[in-house]
Amino acid sequence: MRTSQPQTIYLSDYKVPAYLVDTVDLRFELFEDGARVHSTLAIRRNPDSQESAPPLELDGDSLVLESVALDGTALSESDYENRGEQLVIRSVPERFSLSVVTWIEPQNNTRLEGLYKSSGMFCTQCEAEGFRCITFFPDRPDVMARFRTRIEADQKAYPVLLSNGNDVDRGELDDGRHFMTWEDPFPKPCYLFALVAGDLVEKRDTFTTCSGRDIDLRMYVEPRNAEKCDHAMDSLKRSMRWDEEVYGREYDLDIFMIVAVDDFNMGAMENKGLNIFNSSCVLASQETATDMAFQRIEAIVAHEYFHNWSGNRVTCRDWFQLSLKEGFTVFRDSQFSADMGSPTVKRIEDVTLLRTAQFAEDGGPMAHPVRPASYMEISNFYTLTIYEKGAEVVRMIHTLLGPELFRKGSDLYFQRHDGQAVTTDDFVRAMEDASGRDLSQFRLWYEQAGTPMLTVSDEFDEGQGVYRLTIEQTIPDTPGQTNKKPQHIPFALGLLGSDGQPLPLRLASDEAEAPTERVLELTEGVHTFEFHDIPSEPVPSLLRHFSAPVRVRYPWTREQLLFLMNHDPDGFNRWDAGQRLAVDVIQRLIGSPDDAAIDPRLVEAYRKLITDTDLDQALVAKMLQLPSEAYLIELAESADVPAIHRARERVLEHLAEALRDDLVACYQRQQETGPYEVTPAAIARRSLRNTALGWLLMINDDEGRALAVRQLNEADNMTDRMGALRALVNSDYEADRRQALDDFYDRFRDDPQVVEQWFSVQAASDRAGQLSDIEQLLAHPAFDWKNPNKIRSVIGSFAGQNLAAFHNPDGSGYRFLADQVCRLDDSNPQIAARLVTPLTRWRKFAPAYSSQMQSALERIRDKDGLSRDVYEVVHKSLAG
Ligand code: TRP
Ligand code: ZN
Repeated sequence: MRTSQPQTIYLSDYKVPAYLVDTVDLRFELFEDGARVHSTLAIRRNPDSQESAPPLELDGDSLVLESVALDGTALSESDYENRGEQLVIRSVPERFSLSVVTWIEPQNNTRLEGLYKSSGMFCTQCEAEGFRCITFFPDRPDVMARFRTRIEADQKAYPVLLSNGNDVDRGELDDGRHFMTWEDPFPKPCYLFALVAGDLVEKRDTFTTCSGRDIDLRMYVEPRNAEKCDHAMDSLKRSMRWDEEVYGREYDLDIFMIVAVDDFNMGAMENKGLNIFNSSCVLASQETATDMAFQRIEAIVAHEYFHNWSGNRVTCRDWFQLSLKEGFTVFRDSQFSADMGSPTVKRIEDVTLLRTAQFAEDGGPMAHPVRPASYMEISNFYTLTIYEKGAEVVRMIHTLLGPELFRKGSDLYFQRHDGQAVTTDDFVRAMEDASGRDLSQFRLWYEQAGTPMLTVSDEFDEGQGVYRLTIEQTIPDTPGQTNKKPQHIPFALGLLGSDGQPLPLRLASDEAEAPTERVLELTEGVHTFEFHDIPSEPVPSLLRHFSAPVRVRYPWTREQLLFLMNHDPDGFNRWDAGQRLAVDVIQRLIGSPDDAAIDPRLVEAYRKLITDTDLDQALVAKMLQLPSEAYLIELAESADVPAIHRARERVLEHLAEALRDDLVACYQRQQETGPYEVTPAAIARRSLRNTALGWLLMINDDEGRALAVRQLNEADNMTDRMGALRALVNSDYEADRRQALDDFYDRFRDDPQVVEQWFSVQAASDRAGQLSDIEQLLAHPAFDWKNPNKIRSVIGSFAGQNLAAFHNPDGSGYRFLADQVCRLDDSNPQIAARLVTPLTRWRKFAPAYSSQMQSALERIRDKDGLSRDVYEVVHKSLAG
């Protein structure tokens, strides 16, 4: 437990480690009442360290120290200092072996960091600083060692014993115990260490690499999940092939293992050769997982696999460099998903997340650069900025260099830094050296926080045939950063003529062959570009593909947006024009009580989307989704959430009423014929049908209700079942809703991943998820305060998605969240700190709300023994 105020750690204080560790020899004795960890480290002075005869300092957390020996001689308590969080030995030789024995209690570990138990099995989570909960060690990523791990446990209860690398020895011991020894030939930081012991079934497959090596692929899951592995295994094989083809990266070990565990703080973890997954991010079957889950699993399996090169072979020097591996790996997994499905749809999904959640983070009290300069608790920095904005920064390098030079740069990066712990700057330098491009100004993307705002204005000189575009960039102040320098921004655009045709973009009047799309490079505060030989006033298509993570302000007319929705050759911008139009209509309605304010042109645009079957149906399915409440809040100056919620619902209802017959026809047209498939076309079909159903139930249409009930009873897959359940839950058919929820629970009560979805569909619904309903869900026998997925599916869904209920003007939602955060702070501070997020944005909301949010934060601040995790978030958001 923390006794003093948490310290801030600064990038500028970075020093190379005083001691290096060449090998780590571990022996785990696993018991029901605890585990004994024997560790022997081969340590030597770091020749690059300037310090003379520094003390040896090892990190530790919640460890019982049993013994210490140096070069085989036991040390007495006067030879070392056990400060709890550090084990210090004042004087040590240049090179020595250190043996430490610690005792830990995995069965009582509710933080889920280090070694813990999840439904009867032992497992680990060491990133970022969990290894110190296992044994004393220099727990920093620039200390890379070769690990050898022996695990001993009861043979019956724990027949499967796993760690990183290759299995080199196994055998039986007394008392029904057995052991297995693993050796990882690749030096790695301790955050990539993993151990698993349990009664698990094994699923096997093989993959032949580009050089002809056969890799053993193994998945380990609880026996009841044996039939839910195929999709992850197929995703893994596709990822391995893709990384060879697109990045030239071959897998290095002979075995690759995936384990599914039910209790996990995050999505998954890229431990060398032994990836550990949250069950909800890896297990899937047609009956239990939605299309979205299938796609998420494919992306996360790929993400963790890609880390083998971007993260493990080349790792981070320190945690300020986290985006080095996360930004690059998210970029890689998003390229992969684009290649596996619809690139436009994938881009829309990524940008939606970025614009709603990352922009909000970047504009809030926890705003930080892609490479932060300081932190208190590193777990709080696994953020949308590090991951998603970090990926956008890599994507911009890809855009600026083009695919060939980018590949040259990544080849150089992997070759130059293989086996090293490096910085984001090393990554950019490799890109520069391979391409000959100067990215010095571009580096500001890593250093400056905040979302740049581009203000675009234009004028058309009819006499000269010149179209002039002026772009001004400003970067808002963020905590600790003001007066920012202009950044280097790739800005893709096109111009459309009045006939809807793309115009050649001639930057000089004598330019002969001009392209119809260009990437302009913005480097100054204001830029003006002139396009020549433009016959008539064009409609600009700005920031195509969302070529940079910025906001764009331009005075679009509704006519222009409708025109772009129909004609823009860039599918992303077609979608974006539709979103801007819908935002405009909803925003106008927030102040006015009159439905007549709903523009009939919006209705006609949506009618076209629903009825014109020649359109790309995957794109149509996305275009039909109205901007979310979270996005509308993000765009607001001083948000009144219930008012935003009502305005959005009224637009939805208005559309549903006007398009009622078309929706029924659309639903009928999308009926499934063949067997269930997870292809972009089939996903689009199901999405369209479920959108139509949802809209019909919004207006309590009796035919819609009958369709929903039938779909719920006849569905052969979870996407359709969940689509119908969600539609009923969000309708006024209260008896049907109750019945549907009860039946659903009875059918799936033994499947935790489905029960999570069942919790979440209720907690996220303003009809089924008022505060009293949420309290009932918390009291439900399937709810479990120790399981992060359950906590997220009830409390997280309520505060993050059921926004009108959470922002109840009486402040009850805020008090509720504060109570749950305080409760969870003792058992799982990482989860508690994440749950606070909705409250931290208090300045964004209208005064009647923000003052109550602030008091809720103060209540958390005043809790006794607040964890460092929650302390940092709450203090920064009250100060910021
Ligand atoms: N490196 C993991 C990933 O992005 C993230 C992760 C998994 C993590 N578990 C964690 C981060 C626990 C912090 C704490 O794939
Ligand atoms: Zn990652």
